[in-house]
Amino acid sequence: FDTKTPKSVTNDPTSFASDSVRMRWPIILTGAVDDVYKTVSATEDAEKQAEGKKIIEQLGALKYEMLHDRQMTPLVEDGFSDETAAYNKELEQLGNPTWFQVPWLFSECYMYRRINTFFTTTRHWKSYDLFARQKIDSFRTSRNAVAELAARYEDIVTKIRADKNITHDSEAEKILFMEMCEVCLWGNATDLSLLTTMTYEDIQRLQGSEARKAAEKNILVNKLPQAYDLLNKARAAGKKERRVDFVLDNSGFELYVDLVLAGYLLNTGLATHIVLRPKSIPWFVSDVMPADFAALLSALANPKKFFEAPTEEETVAEKTPAPLSEKEAQSLSFVFQDWATQHGEGQLAIRPNRYWTAGGSFWRLPHEAPELYEDLKQAELVIFKGDLNYRKLTGDASWDPTTPFTEALGSMGAGSGVNVMSLRTCKADVVVDLPAGKDEELRALEGGGGDSGARKWAWSGKWAVVSLSEGK
Ligand code: F6P
Ligand code: MG
Repeated sequence: FDTKTPKSVTNDPTSFASDSVRMRWPIILTGAVDDVYKTVSATEDAEKQAEGKKIIEQLGALKYEMLHDRQMTPLVEDGFSDETAAYNKELEQLGNPTWFQVPWLFSECYMYRRINTFFTTTRHWKSYDLFARQKIDSFRTSRNAVAELAARYEDIVTKIRADKNITHDSEAEKILFMEMCEVCLWGNATDLSLLTTMTYEDIQRLQGSEARKAAEKNILVNKLPQAYDLLNKARAAGKKERRVDFVLDNSGFELYVDLVLAGYLLNTGLATHIVLRPKSIPWFVSDVMPADFAALLSALANPKKFFEAPTEEETVAEKTPAPLSEKEAQSLSFVFQDWATQHGEGQLAIRPNRYWTAGGSFWRLPHEAPELYEDLKQAELVIFKGDLNYRKLTGDASWDPTTPFTEALGSMGAGSGVNVMSLRTCKADVVVDLPAGKDEELRALEGGGGDSGARKWAWSGKWAVVSLSEGK
């Protein structure tokens, strides 16, 4: 079911895959050890401590195997035998590869699924999320952008409510739709698996509204007008239930901006229902799990308590954050009320599926997850957030960059019955849907890769693509 176009592999020295396995993942594993160590130190339960120490050893061993290019070992069965068997079958089909000689997409998924087995095979750590600390801390650090957007959201929603049934200006609505989608897009520039090379200050700089305006020219493909027309037409046709799905990516700030867009769609009636699709295990450091959604809502339920508490870094530096202003706290409460009501009324639902943490590309989705596929077909539009989802959609393959998006999606593209939109800041080698000559132009920029053979411009989240495939 996979594409015949060659996949990105860790032995290609010009790829970001090669960088990842040698530099980034070992750092992520070191961070994982630190996190578990902290929790072990804070526990009094001897059995939990002993299990925690074993997890630390396993994380260390995994890092060693990786750094020394050892063979990737089969996953142990941990209660989801179909899943582990599928990973192990793929290892076998790949000829039991070593870390530096393996398709990038599969090996990265394998790493997170393997880490998960260290926890799920214990008694006390089964549902422990080793990335939770970082996720919640990064949301705290986004507080300026969060407050700024809350005020904007309150303003827009209040106007929509006042205007209901008076004027229906679809040009204005379209412009706001594009703004909300762009907010949602750039929220993806800040995932934590790239944080190994970014400071919190860098992240804050990326999040403000001025930064967003300046970044508009960095959207290389922009199909937002077409996406708007699609939703607008379904509404005009009088269709009763019109669902938009979000295949989520990162928690914290990115989830917050996903909800900003979701709330906008519901308030305008561009959608009547939203389905959020999270991961079921800790994944690519910052990806959303159901508990992260709950944590975000509870932070907003009591914004002063949450945003005025120090982050770990501030605790160490003995700093306390400034209090929220009354206006900020009030806008945040408005946002919370709106989303809590939508959630309570079933318009905003969260629907997990373990398929999102399988090791393959979405070319396999219709075949491997037929029920999920049928469910996705029911939506007017399925928004895939972020880089990993884009890699999974396109098979993480070395396409000619001018290949049409629909073609690069294989069985999820033309004729699939699913309208797929990707909101992705580029953080990997694969890219499609570009106008002819664009890739060459970007490579020629400073730091773009030049004639090294590496597509370096596409690694840092500075550039973005918004592609649409009308599969219905
Ligand atoms: O490129 C770095 C990286 O960690 C990739 O390995 C992965 O595809 C991506 O970032 C995760 O980003 P996102 O959270 O946008 O899916
Ligand atoms: Mg992610």
